[in-house]
Amino acid sequence: MPGPTISEERKNTLVLVFSIFTFLAGYIAATQPSGAGWRFFSWHPFLMVFGFIGMMGSAAIIKKKGGYSNTKTHGILSSLGLVTAFVGLWVIYENKERMGKEHITTTHALCGIITISLAVMPALAGAIFLHPDFGIDKTNQLYRKVHKWFARIVIASAWITCVFGLMQLTSDMKILSIFAVPLAILAPLTLL
Ligand code: HEM
Repeated sequence: MPGPTISEERKNTLVLVFSIFTFLAGYIAATQPSGAGWRFFSWHPFLMVFGFIGMMGSAAIIKKKGGYSNTKTHGILSSLGLVTAFVGLWVIYENKERMGKEHITTTHALCGIITISLAVMPALAGAIFLHPDFGIDKTNQLYRKVHKWFARIVIASAWITCVFGLMQLTSDMKILSIFAVPLAILAPLTLL
């Protein structure tokens, strides 16, 4: 399905929007509930937003520009996004250990662990099969299509997981809207 047509200028603007969103919305999510401030836990939402929204969202837009160097930038940015998300996963694991709490007890946690596990697959497939220099089957149209759609579903799932996570921290509709409405607008532009 062809997504909305976006001009080159708009793609650059979208990358800028992702960078601004990452820091503002990432910080807001990280400091919920209101008044809690920044603490060790805060690195979990912040790094998840940084990795799955800021870096992978920008990487998806950059890939839409096409060409050799944009494809390489896409691969590097997505991979760094995944590494960032794994550090975010370690933070929440460590935070729960320190507090003596059980692991994977909520819908958010279950969605999160499934999503981050699935996110490894397009990263590996991209590096092994589709890398523009040494991908072993880089022109295979089927692999390209599967990689694209699988990764888009994983990113969408991560964004929904972020909203579920935030809902565990606050029920303030203003905060939830500031976070979720821009994501709902960015989703079709980025993931279709
Ligand atoms: C705005 C972004 C996010 C917020 C505010 C957030 C918030 C939270 C909170 C409050 C917890 C502790 C309660 C619980 O166990 O459910 C948690 C745990 C967890 N989160 Fe997130 N999260 C965010 C993003 C993500 C993303 C994108 C993923 C993965 C794709 C993720 C994966 C997990 C996992 C696996 C746990 C459970 C860890 C454990 O039980 O040891 N989170 N998150």
